[in-house]
Amino acid sequence: MSAVSSRYQALVAAGELRPDEDQKHGVEALDRLARSLAKAGRAGLWAKLTGKTSAVPGGVYMWGGVGRGKSMLMDLAFETIDVAPKRRVHFHEFMLEVHQRLRAERQGQTGDPIPAVAQAIAAEAKLLCFDEMVINNSADAMILSRLFSHILAAGVSVVTTSNRPPRDLYKDGLNRELFLPFIDLIEQELEVVPLNGPTDYRLERLGGMPTWDVPNGPVATVALRDAFFRLTDYPPEDSAHVPSEDIPVQGGRILHVPKSLKGVAVFSFKRLCGEARGAPDYLAVARRFHTVIIVGIPRLSPEKRDEAARFVTLIDALYEHKVKLLASADAAPAELYTQGSGAFEFERTVSRLEEMRSADYLAEGHGAA
Ligand SMILES: Nc1ncnc2c1ncn2[C@@H]1O[C@H](COP(=O)(O)OP(=O)(O)OP(=O)(O)O)[C@@H](O)[C@H]1O
Ligand SMILES: [Mg+2]
Repeated sequence: MSAVSSRYQALVAAGELRPDEDQKHGVEALDRLARSLAKAGRAGLWAKLTGKTSAVPGGVYMWGGVGRGKSMLMDLAFETIDVAPKRRVHFHEFMLEVHQRLRAERQGQTGDPIPAVAQAIAAEAKLLCFDEMVINNSADAMILSRLFSHILAAGVSVVTTSNRPPRDLYKDGLNRELFLPFIDLIEQELEVVPLNGPTDYRLERLGGMPTWDVPNGPVATVALRDAFFRLTDYPPEDSAHVPSEDIPVQGGRILHVPKSLKGVAVFSFKRLCGEARGAPDYLAVARRFHTVIIVGIPRLSPEKRDEAARFVTLIDALYEHKVKLLASADAAPAELYTQGSGAFEFERTVSRLEEMRSADYLAEGHGAA
């Protein structure tokens, strides 16, 4: 037994986690990884002395429906597996960074930039944890097989989560045949574990919580705070210390997220829609977070047409990425913006907001269809 399973069992014993058969298998796989990493560490020392290389295990790929505990198990593994350096990163952000590094590398030299970038990544982490692996553009699809071959060959172990099994990654994507070697690589090198039990624990935690709280004020604030703590398991007494985060936006900008924990973000309406923001900002939010909490949505008078237009763009991005929305507002969606330019288009947003409160929507997985 390694630290991964002892921590997991302690959480089950304490009643914080319910026993779950699929999670048990996930923990066993992570345990095997932890043990072989520990062994490889010792063998690595031996290899240094003798010149013989040691085989490092590839890692674990956990896939399954929304709210099954994939990110939870990955976090547990990340915290408890004893290697250094290690890194946990959202897959989409990692790929943005990879493309940036490839561009920089191409400027410096004329050869294939992928090996050099993979080497640099491998030098920074022996264990790489990716949350929410999803491939939906050909720029990523075309480089992944070679990039990961080099990363794994450099002795890096990978733990990743995804809503899809490897065979369904980049399904129906352009030039998919060029992507297939990546699927083979994953299936060969990583232990693939379905985490697809009957219970959506997030939905269970969201159950009975109001997703659209009216009006703004202390009651709504308390309800949303409770929701945040319930979704993130963060102790409410530490509420002053919830971490913030700066997320990269396409085009090189940064968006400050005042509260960011375990894929849940909290924003004020003012911050998200009261400043000059646009689709790239909202897409970055929609990709990065499975749940977004927005506080203080006001009724919008006709002169607030810019705020209304941004709110439309924001909700489109959240809706398209199936992000769960919890909000406090001064009125029901249909009464938020009834006059002024774009009020007609706003009706689609109203309809989306209604749908986003439905049980079906709440049960859907994060990510673009
Ligand atoms: N066995 C369990 N018992 C109780 N709560 C659990 C259990 N497993 C996970 N949870 C909780 O359920 C919520 C959802 O889990 P998690 O975020 O890991 O899901 P996920 O599989 O990553 O979903 P997604 O695909 O949407 O990212 C979290 O708050 C997590 O702590
Ligand atoms: Mg997750």
